[in-house]
Amino acid sequence: MRNKITLHHLLLVGAVALGSCQKEYVKAPPPPPVITRSVTFTADIYPLLTAAAHNCTDCHNSGGQAPDLSTDNSAFTTLTTGGYVNTSSPSSSTFYIAVTPVYTGSSGQMYPGGPYLTTSEQATILAWITQGAQH
Ligand code: HEC
Repeated sequence: MRNKITLHHLLLVGAVALGSCQKEYVKAPPPPPVITRSVTFTADIYPLLTAAAHNCTDCHNSGGQAPDLSTDNSAFTTLTTGGYVNTSSPSSSTFYIAVTPVYTGSSGQMYPGGPYLTTSEQATILAWITQGAQH
């Protein structure tokens, strides 16, 4: 009887440990394809933010939700000086995380249910940060 209880407890602990492992796995962003071509804000990033498919500027504009992404200059300045981009640890940049499905935000109003940027668009943003976030 005593042995049975111990085994039961072990199984329970195992199941809980496994459960939390799986949770961590689901939370981790998928590894993006690596982009090696030169990526700049004006040529590659700003067009993504204004694309009709993403509508970032519907919410993120002057007087709207921070960061202000409405013009090329305001978006570049806010993202690079407002703490949204971390060139020493690109994948932990708020700007990058915010466009991946792991991001939920505090209000849940940021992209409720998607659509998120495509994997290759996410990779373009990561490459831009990795290359030093050039204008
Ligand atoms: C429907 C409105 C809406 C759209 C569309 C939207 N956002 Fe947001 N965004 C928000 C809100 C609201 C927040 C604040 C976080 C929250 O409360 O969920 C936010 C937060 C952010 C943040 C800051 C995250 C932080 O933790 O500080 C970034 C960066 C961002 N959005 C980028 C984008 C980009 C890039 C797009 C387009 C791909 C986009 N957003 C589209 C509403 C939106």
